[in-house]
Amino acid sequence: MANDLIDVRPMTKRIGAEIFGVDLARPLGNRAFGEIHAALMEHQVVFFRDQALTHDAHKALGRVFGDLHIHSGVAGLPDHPEVVAIHADENSKFVAGENWHSDLSCDAEPPMGSILYMHTVPEDGGDTLFASMYAAYDALSPAMKAFLEPLTAVHDGNHVYKALFPDSTRTYPCNAHPVVRTHPVTGRKLLFVNGSYTTRIEQLSRDESAAVLAFLFEHVKNPNFHVRFRWRPHSVAFWDNRCTQHFAVWDYFPQVRSGFRVTVAGDRPR
Ligand code: SIN
Repeated sequence: MANDLIDVRPMTKRIGAEIFGVDLARPLGNRAFGEIHAALMEHQVVFFRDQALTHDAHKALGRVFGDLHIHSGVAGLPDHPEVVAIHADENSKFVAGENWHSDLSCDAEPPMGSILYMHTVPEDGGDTLFASMYAAYDALSPAMKAFLEPLTAVHDGNHVYKALFPDSTRTYPCNAHPVVRTHPVTGRKLLFVNGSYTTRIEQLSRDESAAVLAFLFEHVKNPNFHVRFRWRPHSVAFWDNRCTQHFAVWDYFPQVRSGFRVTVAGDRPR
């Protein structure tokens, strides 16, 4: 598709593009929406520089792409429950997203996408890696694809959030989803298991499940499927959570890295 409104510059052959020529703080017209959505469907994660998003503008941007999703594990801001702070400093014991994951795959309807706006980043480090689950699926042999196709896997939020909030008596979502998912917009098949939330393949014995998941979690780490984003202050990353995983690198302790995330609701994986 020809983009004569916005400028889309792919970053790798398989995943990631930078988008220039759009101010995300202003209401997106139909055409800009269509071009950004098309770029997101093709490149799976898109990045913007030099943006200035208030919480209201951030939420308005998310709502152009769908209803906003309330995080099932982490509380949002008091006045903006749809906005989650992503913050690390010298007092942090952990940071969000330190392992490969897709956001909240434990939910019955995991988010369609996430929009992360970082206003403060360390001078060096603090990059985010993104992996294409289309590329991960495409690289499997026909025999492995056929083996995985009918399987479903359990995605559990309990071990993730109880480790972060040990005093909480809350329970968190736990749901089964297909191991191979079909993207509802592109129709492409993709691998839908991740090392943070996925605990078990339902149709296999415990040992078989552990071995297959260990292989798939390792497979996702192949750099051939990745793009690495170097943040600058006031950058935005918008990822399609259905067909990507991401990993936040915490190599900047004790420096500050700070921003906000809005998440767009998704549907039940099929
Ligand atoms: C996340 O998992 O949403 C955090 C990503 C990041 O901080 O780069």
